[in-house]
Amino acid sequence: MIVVPGPSAPKVGERVAQIIGAKKVGVDYKNFPDGESYIRLTEGVKGEEVVLVHTTYPQPDKRVLELLLLIDTLKDLGAIKVKVVVPYMAYSRQDTRFRDGEAVSINTIFRLIEAAGADEFYTVDIHKEFSLGAFKIKTKNLYATEVIADHLKGMGLHEPYILSPDKGALDIARRIGEMLGAEYGNLEKARDRITGAITVKGDGVDARGRDVVITDDLISTGGTIANACKILKDGGARRVIAVCSHPLLVAGAYERMKGAGLDEVLGTDTVDSEVSKISVAPLIAKEFR
Ligand code: R5P
Repeated sequence: MIVVPGPSAPKVGERVAQIIGAKKVGVDYKNFPDGESYIRLTEGVKGEEVVLVHTTYPQPDKRVLELLLLIDTLKDLGAIKVKVVVPYMAYSRQDTRFRDGEAVSINTIFRLIEAAGADEFYTVDIHKEFSLGAFKIKTKNLYATEVIADHLKGMGLHEPYILSPDKGALDIARRIGEMLGAEYGNLEKARDRITGAITVKGDGVDARGRDVVITDDLISTGGTIANACKILKDGGARRVIAVCSHPLLVAGAYERMKGAGLDEVLGTDTVDSEVSKISVAPLIAKEFR
């Protein structure tokens, strides 16, 4: 088995190769002046079973295209199996036709990944697991909660309360809460489908004097976390920490959350960011030992 760390966030792929003790094959990549992507495998892969680790952020459109080029090229060059690992799967929030006429983007992308020649597909904390149903090949969603909970255990939290910003992500808070032996629950979030504006309510949540950990699958603009944090700080929380699997942190997100009183933000390395302090590489490596 060989590991190919894709050009986006290659560190995770490299760590996976190291942990499982597999040979690593590199990828040369560049952009042509007109913006087109170029990729080239630096060694042969004929007859090999390949684990391709390639994430899809930043520049999700470009990363998705690179992923398709890589899968197809690996197969074309004779790899016998391509096991695709996408630690952060972009477009997974558009898993439903919320408004008439919309693209169900994640279905389109999954069909393309399969058509390109993927034999198996793995991802971490996909927005909603049901979207993996668009594939016919073997798929698996890995839960980062295990590595996140381990990290939180070392933080000396005071009367921790693990909260999801909405019901949709309650499962993440529940899993972490159970691993820490801490109380867990959820706030109520609503998002305007046209303007994107977010409102968060904290009815029935008593965070007074406690360290609250807000858990979510991803942080993009930081609006969800900032709204939640404000409610919790107004309600007397001692410390508010946000932790997510995918710290996209678009421009201004960090400042928005800090401005709302957030004490700390943590994420995993499914995407590279200044807060990607928790590695999912051991989690991924377990699948291929
Ligand atoms: C949405 O349902 C997701 O789980 C996140 O809560 C959301 O995408 C975060 O986005 P933002 O950081 O822009 O509020």
